[in-house]
Amino acid sequence: APVAAVIPAAGRGVRLGPGAPKALRALNGTPMLIHAVRALAASRHVSLVIVVAPPDGAAEVKSLLDAHELPGSSTDFLVVPGGESRQESVRLGLAALPPEYGVVLVHDAARPLVPVDTVDAVIEAVRDGAPAVVPALPPADTVKEVEPAAEPGAPEPVVATPERARLRAVQTPQGFDRATLLRAHETVTDDVTDDAGMVEKLGLPVVTVPGHEEAFKVTRPLDLVLAEAVLARRRL
Ligand code: CTP
Ligand code: MG
Repeated sequence: APVAAVIPAAGRGVRLGPGAPKALRALNGTPMLIHAVRALAASRHVSLVIVVAPPDGAAEVKSLLDAHELPGSSTDFLVVPGGESRQESVRLGLAALPPEYGVVLVHDAARPLVPVDTVDAVIEAVRDGAPAVVPALPPADTVKEVEPAAEPGAPEPVVATPERARLRAVQTPQGFDRATLLRAHETVTDDVTDDAGMVEKLGLPVVTVPGHEEAFKVTRPLDLVLAEAVLARRRL
């Protein structure tokens, strides 16, 4: 089945601090979103990329994609305006998905450096029959569950310490059988922070494949420093 990728890129990037919408911020001179689009178009399996742009930035995103078009790339592009939440932005992207795409990836624009091998591993696992696949890594830190405090910075009582060896930090692209992802987005209304979480709520199996350190999410200012260092090491 042909593979399409939806890239939600409509967030403001509040945690990164003031400036342009996060996906349009430059990494070594090129917008983060363009790096992310290239990372997915680098897979020979991905034939369509649907970019979900900031609500008032669809025209700007279209011209950025034109300006950075990869010579010889056979990937098609669509741009749609996004929504208030990541979940809504993904749903708006899926609404533009043509019927022939049986495998769908959802990839954060904020993970611009994901290696193509990770993308292909996710696609392969879906093609092998998994309805939902997430790239995942063991967390470096021990993770505590707390009773969240009302005021930021106030001490928070620790409730539990899940056994670290059983935890995984998940990344994107997450990959899905088309029908599974569409049903999840039609049915699940709870707040979730990833698409696979919606599939779990349907009671369907989700599996992991190995993620990659370079698929980290650019969230806070320090992540920009790391991303530019990785790009410099790759000489991009
Ligand atoms: N996203 C989106 N639409 C939204 C919110 C988020 O498309 N309404 C996208 C972001 O553009 C990003 C991805 O979802 O590519 C992951 O979200 P996150 O890293 O949280 O980005 P932001 O929401 O932009 O950042 P912040 O939460 O710090 O504001
Ligand atoms: Mg966010």
